[in-house]
Amino acid sequence: MPTHDLIVIGGGPGGYVAAIRAAQLGLNVACIDANERLGGTCLRVGCIPSKAMLESSEKYTELKHGLDVHGIKLGKVELDLPAMLARKEEIVKGLTGGIDMLLKKNKITRYTGLGSFAGPGKVTVKGKDNVELEAKHIIIATGSKVASLKGVEVDGKTVGTSTEALAYDKVPGHLVVIGAGYIGMEMGSVWLRLGAKVTMLEYLDRILPGMDSDIAADAHKLFKKQGFEFKLGAKVTGTKATKGGAIVEIEGADPIKCDKVLLSVGRAPNTEGLNLQAVGLQPDGRGKIEVNDHFETKAKNIYAIGDVIRGPMLAHKAEEEGVACAEHIVTGYGHVNYDAIPAVVYTHPEIASVGKTEDELKEKGVEYKKGVYHFKANGRARTLGETDGKVKILADAKTDRVLGVHILGNRAGDLIAEAAVAMEYGASSEDIARASHAHPTLAEAVKEAALGVAGRTING
Ligand code: NAI
Repeated sequence: MPTHDLIVIGGGPGGYVAAIRAAQLGLNVACIDANERLGGTCLRVGCIPSKAMLESSEKYTELKHGLDVHGIKLGKVELDLPAMLARKEEIVKGLTGGIDMLLKKNKITRYTGLGSFAGPGKVTVKGKDNVELEAKHIIIATGSKVASLKGVEVDGKTVGTSTEALAYDKVPGHLVVIGAGYIGMEMGSVWLRLGAKVTMLEYLDRILPGMDSDIAADAHKLFKKQGFEFKLGAKVTGTKATKGGAIVEIEGADPIKCDKVLLSVGRAPNTEGLNLQAVGLQPDGRGKIEVNDHFETKAKNIYAIGDVIRGPMLAHKAEEEGVACAEHIVTGYGHVNYDAIPAVVYTHPEIASVGKTEDELKEKGVEYKKGVYHFKANGRARTLGETDGKVKILADAKTDRVLGVHILGNRAGDLIAEAAVAMEYGASSEDIARASHAHPTLAEAVKEAALGVAGRTING
C-alpha cells in the first residue's frame, strides 16, 4: 500500500497550497482530486473564469458606451461571444496546468479520483486511479458545491448555477438571478454588460449580506443606474420550465418569465461521500466539519481547511489555512489572523472589505471613529473617469487601532491589500495617514480616509 506522510484530499486553493507548503517542509505528500484539472472550483469554474468574463465584458461595455467622454469615437463595436469564452478557457487551461507543474516541482504524488476514508490513516481513491493509501496525517480540503433551493430544479440548461452562467452560448434575453450575493452580482454584471436584461431576486431587504451595509447601499444605487432590476424581499418558491425558458415563482408576487435562471443562494460544504464515519467524524447540520484553532478535527491526525470548516468561503482564506495547517503539522506552529482576511466583490466598481463592518461594531457596542473619503475628490479617479465610491476606515475610539476598512470604487480589490497589511501589523489610522502614498494614485483616497479619522483630511 503506497504510504505518505501526508495526504491532502482536494486540489483546490486550500488543498494544493497545503500540499506544497508541507512538501517544502520536507514531508512526503500526496494530493487527491476527482478532477484531472487541479485548482478546484476557484480555477476551473469560479474565481478565475468569472474574472476573465468580467474583464472582457467590462472592456466591451466601455468600448460600446464609455469612450465618448474621452473624446474617442468608435465605429461599430461587436460582440464575439465564442472568442470571449475561448479566451476564458485558455486562461483556465494555463493556470490549472501550472498547478500540475507546481505539484511536480515539489515532488507531490497526484492521484485522480474520489478520495474517501477507509479507516484511521487510510484513504481509498476511486476513479481514474483506484488505490488504497496510507498516511500519518490527512487534510480534508474538499471545498463546496452550489447550495440548492427547494422548488428550484437545476437542469443545467435553463435553470443553472454559476458553472453554466460562465458559459452561456448566447446572451440571454432576460436572465433572472436568485440571490444578490457575490456570485449573483458578479455573473449578473457579466450578462448585463453583454446585453441581457437582468433581474436580481433577493430574499433579504438588502444586497450583499455580510458587506458593510452603508457601502452595500451605495453599491446598490450604482448597480440600479447600470440597468440591473432588483426585487428585494423576494422569496423564490420555485421555477417551472417553459418552452425555451422558465417561470420563476415568488411568494406573494407575480411570477417572472425569463430565458435563463441563475441560482446563487450560497454554497454548501462537500463532505458527503468522504465516508467520515469510518474515522468517527460527523459533519454538523450544514455539512461543516468542526475543527479547533489548529484545524484538528475530533479524529486524531485528521485536519480540515477551507470551505468545509467555519468562516467565509473564500479561496485566499483556504490558502492561509492550508499553510497554517501544514506548518502546524510539521513545526507545531501555524496561525491565521481572521481579523485581516479581505473580501472582494468584482463588480464595477469593485467592493472590498477587511475587518469589522460598521454594523458589527454597532452591534457589539464598540466605540469607534470613522474616516470617509470619496473618490470624486481624488485626482487619479478624476483622470480615470472613475469617481464613484468611497473609502471608509473604522478605528477604535480610544486606541486608534484600525478595526475595519471598506472600499467601494475602481480597483478596490487591489486597494484593500494596503489595509489588510496595516491590520496584520496592528496599525493605527494615524500609521496609514502618515505613510507616504504616491501622487496621483487611487491609494491616496485610503490615506485621506485615514486622515479623516482624526478630522484632518487635506484634500476634502
Ligand atoms: P452569498 O452567500 O454571497 O449570497 C447568496 C444570496 O442569496 C444572499 O444574499 C441570500 O440572502 C440570498 N438568498 C438565499 N436564499 C434565497 C431565496 N430563496 N431567494 C432569494 N434570495 C436568496 O452566496 P453566493 O453568491 O452563492 O456565493 C457563494 C460563496 O462563494 C460565498 O460564500 C462567497 O464568499 C464565495 N464567492 C466569492 C467570490 C469572491 O470572492 N469574489 C465570488 C463568488 C463567490
